[in-house]
Amino acid sequence: MRTSSFLLVLVLSILHLASQPSSGTLATLRIGDSLSVDKPDDILVSKSGIFSAGFYPVGKNAYCFAIWFSHPPCSSQNCTVVWTANRDKPVNGRYSKLSLKKNGDLVLTDARHDVVWTIDTASLSWSKTPDCQLQLLDSGNLVLRGREGNVPLWQSFDYPTDVLLPEQNLTRNTTLVSSRSNGDFSSGYYKLYFDNDNVLRLLFDGPLISSVYWPDPSHVSWEVGRTTYNDSRVAVLDSLGNFTSSDDLKFLTSDFGKRTQRILKVDHDGNVRVYSRRENGKWVATWQAISESCTIHGICGPNSVCSDSPSKGRRCSCLPGYVWNNDTDWTQGCMPEFESFCNKSSKAHVDFLHLPHHDFYGYDKDYFPNTTLAACKKICADLCNCKGFQYKFQGDSGYFDCFPKLRLLNGYSSCSFIGSIYLKLPKANLSSYEIRTTEVIPLPCPPEIQEVVLQRTYLKSRVSSTLEILLIFASVLGGAEIVVVFLTWSFLIRTDPNRRGGHVKGYQLAARGFRRFTYAELKKATRNFSNEIGRGSGGIVYKGVLPDHGEVAVKRLNEVNQGEEEFLAEVRTIGNLNHMNLIVMWGYCAEGKHWLLVYEFMDHGSLAENLSSDQLDWTKRYEIALGSARGLAYLHEECLEWVLHCDVKPHNILLDSNYQPKVADFGLSKILKREGLKNSSFSRIRGTRGYMAPEWVYNMPITSKVDVYSYGIVVLELVTGRSPTGGLANAEGGDENESRRLTSWVRERKRTGAPMETWIKEILDPRLTGEYDMRKIEVLVAVALQCVEEDREARPPMSQVVEMLLRHESEDM
Ligand SMILES: *[C@@H]1O[C@H](CO)[C@@H](O)[C@H](O)[C@H]1NC(C)=O
Ligand SMILES: *[C@@H]1O[C@H](CO)[C@@H](O)[C@H](O)[C@H]1NC(C)=O
Ligand SMILES: *[C@@H]1O[C@H](CO)[C@@H](O)[C@H](O)[C@H]1NC(C)=O
Ligand SMILES: *[C@@H]1O[C@H](CO)[C@@H](O)[C@H](O)[C@H]1NC(C)=O
Ligand SMILES: *[C@@H]1O[C@H](CO)[C@@H](O)[C@H](O)[C@H]1NC(C)=O
Ligand SMILES: *[C@@H]1O[C@H](CO)[C@@H](O)[C@H](O)[C@H]1NC(C)=O
Ligand SMILES: *[C@@H]1O[C@H](CO)[C@@H](O)[C@H](O)[C@H]1NC(C)=O
Ligand SMILES: *[C@@H]1O[C@H](CO)[C@@H](O)[C@H](O)[C@H]1NC(C)=O
Ligand SMILES: *[C@@H]1O[C@H](CO)[C@@H](O)[C@H](O)[C@H]1NC(C)=O
Repeated sequence: MRTSSFLLVLVLSILHLASQPSSGTLATLRIGDSLSVDKPDDILVSKSGIFSAGFYPVGKNAYCFAIWFSHPPCSSQNCTVVWTANRDKPVNGRYSKLSLKKNGDLVLTDARHDVVWTIDTASLSWSKTPDCQLQLLDSGNLVLRGREGNVPLWQSFDYPTDVLLPEQNLTRNTTLVSSRSNGDFSSGYYKLYFDNDNVLRLLFDGPLISSVYWPDPSHVSWEVGRTTYNDSRVAVLDSLGNFTSSDDLKFLTSDFGKRTQRILKVDHDGNVRVYSRRENGKWVATWQAISESCTIHGICGPNSVCSDSPSKGRRCSCLPGYVWNNDTDWTQGCMPEFESFCNKSSKAHVDFLHLPHHDFYGYDKDYFPNTTLAACKKICADLCNCKGFQYKFQGDSGYFDCFPKLRLLNGYSSCSFIGSIYLKLPKANLSSYEIRTTEVIPLPCPPEIQEVVLQRTYLKSRVSSTLEILLIFASVLGGAEIVVVFLTWSFLIRTDPNRRGGHVKGYQLAARGFRRFTYAELKKATRNFSNEIGRGSGGIVYKGVLPDHGEVAVKRLNEVNQGEEEFLAEVRTIGNLNHMNLIVMWGYCAEGKHWLLVYEFMDHGSLAENLSSDQLDWTKRYEIALGSARGLAYLHEECLEWVLHCDVKPHNILLDSNYQPKVADFGLSKILKREGLKNSSFSRIRGTRGYMAPEWVYNMPITSKVDVYSYGIVVLELVTGRSPTGGLANAEGGDENESRRLTSWVRERKRTGAPMETWIKEILDPRLTGEYDMRKIEVLVAVALQCVEEDREARPPMSQVVEMLLRHESEDM
């Protein structure tokens, strides 16, 4: 008995293995065909092989019928899934199949032959054709159509999950729904959809509360550039990275123009991002809807506050005086430690704790404009169920507004939020509460991965026990590798320290191998710091060669006036920024007094060197102006708004082997603690002579417009070849008004009323030979002159600069 069953096992498992490769992948599924979960090769592949559709493992013994990118090749645990048919009802890993029935219905059944998902062609009323076929197109669209009809009976593009592919329409009938978590494909709580007023919005639709958080609900739609008057309700991302929506939301991805794979995805953290595929196969975010991740609703429960820092990621913590409802689940929020003020028997005196830069969205009892702090405190104190109030200065009207809150939901704290919360607490304990805040150990925000596990019940109900053992044996053989891959993968995910800060960072860091270097390693790489290639912004730059990165530039910082932890936080933030027009930081070294940063090496050195050595023709110059603008726009608007460069100049714009510009040295002002932005002493660092905005000199607040100013000067220098520090580029010397001299010289030439050709010839760099485009020069000069307006309000933001330059680019085509 024993031998015979062993033989049977052997035969069966050989049969099982042998049956796998035989079927091969399919181009079309025809009437009567089916795809089976048991055969890993039962896969529908698009013509060029970019997309595949088939059963995809989503957990232990749990499969979804899915579409994924199959080029570049991926193994079944690292593919990028773009669509699933049955995300909330995965099927078992045996006997499940997708069949195209004789009547044209497409049916997904699980091991018990229960129908899990179906397309009922009979309900697509006008179609009486039974002669259907299922095809996966190169766009990633799975279509079911009759043989002759061109119009599909059904297409997966009409039923998106959390991803929108290029050319896929988001319409009034479709909603993108995030997945639950990184490892769980089932429907989550975040939705992107066209609202009843025709505006594209993001909604948190949780089990307890539900609210819209994007666009910023504290503004009406037209204030954020949306229109409610176009009821066509359609949005689409094109393959070059141009997104347009009928409500006037428009954006270009940071790598606009490049032909590459792209997806727009509602991530499980509630943000919407566009990802592009890099040459190395990794995805990088090239646009995101929300830069302050804590403004996303539903992250932390009631009475708790979300905070985000590049080093620690997104976290929730309880308000002072409150404790966790459930310390393993932050979405359940916090409850008061003190007795309710509404309890008649309690006569506790109340007082208010000031929490600057805190906001709670909604649940206002009322709105009291132009109210003093004392009056607002009285309003809230008298109202027993008032939990605290928002007190906010209204810049344009010049007074404070008071918003008493009945519930404290969607809380967040951020330095950029101007306004305070005054929290109502029992007077007796006020001072003790203040101390307690620091003791609260915040919980990490994204929930832990919850694996989907399906019972293998079908084994019991369908097969005899001998066969059961054989089947387990056979599927163990077949599935062992998958399990190993899956375990490795989930282990990697679990241990990735950056995962908690949102997985985008994880993507980017993984993609770039950002890491810590030892001093010895860098000393060796630079051959004891022998090859100096540049100097400035806080240190000397050396060329080096690293075994795993090839050529690198190593910057040795002179002094770092901050602790190691702070340094690391800043460096990680810089390491997280990822844009084709920003220099890539590979890593850092912090050992004792040695502080070093490791960057990618740029073949063509700095713009300053190239200008003086006369290497740049007109096309290159225009590309450099556009690329640098993109890099700066990314720093200012799309990432974390704090990244002001503060030292934009030709020395900090580096050129790669194709003369594509990359902005360097951003974020350094923070590391070197040079910014002293609110410090009124004149000694504060003011960028570089000639490129400094007037705000530095007149001690005005420093905003991103200082970079816009410096950028304008750089562009004027690109066009005229004249350095703002006097004479042709590279010359030294000059005084405080240097930049203004260059500016007014160009303005005067332009203003003479002479024909365009004449004044352009006058200002144009005499070293510029070859062809150039008068109209483009005119645009460039006009944009640059706007950038160098004395009044910072009159300068356009960098994103607008990019748009103005691009608009002109496209007119040419
Ligand atoms: C997926 O993993 C396989 C090996 O398991 C590797 O060869 C492939 O490059 C990976 N693909 C991606 C896109 O990461
Ligand atoms: C998207 O909508 C446009 C018109 O708005 C239509 O021409 C196009 O066929 C649609 N694309 C798909 C894939 O349905
Ligand atoms: C949306 O659905 C309605 C009803 O099902 C249909 O008539 C309409 O054509 C659909 N609109 C789009 C843009 O798909
Ligand atoms: C983006 O697409 C819209 C609509 O197709 C078009 O009007 C616009 O010119 C495009 N923008 C760019 C920069 O190509
Ligand atoms: C409404 O939006 C669609 C799609 O973006 C566009 O084609 C159409 O021109 C817009 N209609 C109006 C009246 O602006
Ligand atoms: C805390 O939340 C988890 C997950 O929701 C739940 O399983 C657990 O029972 C809760 N604990 C308490 C004490 O309520
Ligand atoms: C009100 O206070 C009394 C006495 O302190 C206490 O017994 C009771 O539980 C409280 N009621 C509520 C609703 O908190
Ligand atoms: C705000 O209130 C103060 C005192 O009540 C009053 O003098 C002032 O005019 C008010 N300001 C506005 C803009 O209403
Ligand atoms: C609040 O203060 C009272 C009196 O000082 C004390 O008995 C009580 O334990 C305190 N409660 C908390 C939560 O600290």
